[in-house]
Amino acid sequence: MSYTYTINEAHRLMTTQLDVPNRLLLGPGPSNAHPRVLQAMSLPPIGHLDPRFIHLMNEIQELLRYAWQTENSLTIPVSGTGSAGMEAALANVIEPGDVVLIGINGYFGLRLADMAGRYGADVRIIQKPWGQIFSLAELEAAVAEHKPAVLALVHAETSTGARQPLEGVGELCRANHCLFLIDTVTSLGGVPLFLDEWQVDVAYSGTQKCLSCPPGLAPLTLGERAVQKLKNRRHKVANWYLDMSLISNYWGDSRTYHHTAPINMNYGLREALRLVAEEGMAERWARHQAIVELLWQGLAELGLHCHVEPEYRLPSLTTVRIPDGVDGKAVVGRLLNEFNIEIAGGLGELAGKVWRIGLMGYNSRPENVYRLLDGLKRILLGS
Ligand SMILES: Cc1ncc(COP(=O)(O)O)c(C=O)c1O
Repeated sequence: MSYTYTINEAHRLMTTQLDVPNRLLLGPGPSNAHPRVLQAMSLPPIGHLDPRFIHLMNEIQELLRYAWQTENSLTIPVSGTGSAGMEAALANVIEPGDVVLIGINGYFGLRLADMAGRYGADVRIIQKPWGQIFSLAELEAAVAEHKPAVLALVHAETSTGARQPLEGVGELCRANHCLFLIDTVTSLGGVPLFLDEWQVDVAYSGTQKCLSCPPGLAPLTLGERAVQKLKNRRHKVANWYLDMSLISNYWGDSRTYHHTAPINMNYGLREALRLVAEEGMAERWARHQAIVELLWQGLAELGLHCHVEPEYRLPSLTTVRIPDGVDGKAVVGRLLNEFNIEIAGGLGELAGKVWRIGLMGYNSRPENVYRLLDGLKRILLGS
C-alpha cells in the first residue's frame, strides 16, 4: 500500500513564535526559575545512559540528600510533578488494607487521603481547621486510637500557609511501628527540614517552589524502614511507573533502563540544587525568614492581617485575609494585569477569604516584597 501526499495549504499549519509575559510569580507556585537553572536547561540533551548523565544523577542524589539533611540512599527525583512524588510515596509503602492515618488541615491533606484510598489503604483522618496545626499530643492520641501502618502529614500546607511542627513525631511513629511520611513540596530549600534528625521515613517534594526550578520533577526519599517495607511487600506496587523497586535499579548501581529520564529537567534540578549548596542551608532558611518578615511588616502597615498564627507561619507562603468589602479576585487580576505580579486566592475552606503570597527560593528577595507591597497599596488605598 502506498500513500500519496498532496502538499497544499490543508497540510500546513502556520503558528506564531511563542511569546510569554515576564511575570513576577509570587503565588503558591510555580515561582520564577533562577536564570542559571534556565541556562542549564537549555544545554543539549545527552543519552539517559550516557556516563556523563549517570555522573549527573549521582550528583543530584548527593545534593538532594544535603538539601533534605538525610543520608537515605534511595533519594531520587521522580519524573513528574509534586503529585507524582506524592503518589510514589504512597504507592510504595501502602499495601492493600493498611491503616493510613492522614492529618488534614488543608487541601493537600485531602489529596493524600484520596490517593491513599486508591492504593487500597484503610484511610483514617484527623482534621483541624485550615490554617491550624496538629499538636504532638493530638497526633499521639490519634496514633494510639488508629494504630496506623503509615502516618502522613503535610509539612508546609500551601493552601493555608501553616507549618506543621514535626519534632517528636518520628519517635512517636517508631514507638508504634508506623512509617512517618511527609509532604515537603513547599518547604524543601526554604524551610528548615531535618529528615534524619526528625526520623522521617518517606518524603517527597517538587522542583517549582523553593528550589526555583520549573515544575517537572518530584524529589523522593525513602529511609531504611520504608525500603524494608518495599522489599517485603506481599503485593506488587500497584503503579508500574512509580515502583521504586524498579526505578531504584536505574538510579542505583545497575543503571538498567526503566524510563527515559527527562534529561533537561535534571540539568535544571542539578543547577537549582547547586545554588542551594552554594548558599548553604542555614543561610537559605534565614534568608527566607528575614524576607517574609519584611512582607508581614508591610502587610500590617497596610492594615492587612495574616491568617496563620506567627509561630506556625511558613516563610515560603503567607495567607492574608481579604478585608471586608474588598473583591479579592479583582485585586489578583489587577496585580497581574497592571503590575505583572501573580498572587493567588484561597482554596477549599479558604476560597474567597484569603490571598496566597509565595516568597520562594530565587524570589525571596527584598525588591520583590517592595514591588508587591507597592502594587497592593496602589490598588487597595489608591495611592
Ligand atoms: C503541599 C503540596 N503538595 C503537593 C502538591 C502537588 O504538586 P504538583 O502541583 O506539582 O503536582 C503541591 C502543589 O502545589 C503542594 O503545594
